Amino acid sequence: MLSRMNTKPALSIAVLGSGKGSNFQAIADAIRNESLDARIVGVFSDVSDAFILERARRMGIPAEFIDPAPFKTRLDGAAELNLIERLSCCGAELIALAGFMRMLKARLLEAYASRIINIHPSLLPAFPGLESWKQARNYGVKLTGCTVHFVDAGMDTGRIILQKAVPVLDTDTPETLHARIQVQEHAAYPEAIRMILEDRCPAQKSL
Ligand code: GRF
Repeated sequence: MLSRMNTKPALSIAVLGSGKGSNFQAIADAIRNESLDARIVGVFSDVSDAFILERARRMGIPAEFIDPAPFKTRLDGAAELNLIERLSCCGAELIALAGFMRMLKARLLEAYASRIINIHPSLLPAFPGLESWKQARNYGVKLTGCTVHFVDAGMDTGRIILQKAVPVLDTDTPETLHARIQVQEHAAYPEAIRMILEDRCPAQKSL
């Protein structure tokens, strides 16, 4: 494994998201305030009117809708090929999933092996899948949180990079719990990328 040397240009990151893009914003803000030596070279969404695209455009970052048809839950076929081409065109070295609601398939996973990361709103391996904060609350756990991990072919599986814990309060509603988890996510995602940049991350491939 090699560390990114001082002489290397900033790490080129592409962000994939389907929703409001607050984690994209947290990464972009960390870059803007120079706490992260990276640049976002493209933002891609499978949802044409996702707010993440709007946020990116407002910041002057190239933002593009990738039509996922005809697939409902995965990025496959022509959409997958299109995205691989777009990622290559913008020179992405690391792909950060930020609320991207589709499973990635083999071609993309192989093209960017060990270079795709995700953020998930629970302490994995507990509560993979959707609305993990509701799952945590319904189960009665007293501690949940968020996880940044490498992406593999599974659902919210893959080697864990970083976790942050959030207590579950008796007074929590699903909304208040999710909001407190998101505060931790916004610190965790830039921190995890920094760990990758500084080669402080187990089982990492050099970037
Ligand atoms: C986050 O809670 C993330 O953990 C999950 O999807 C949500 C995305 O939020 N994977 P945002 O679009 O970044 O605001």
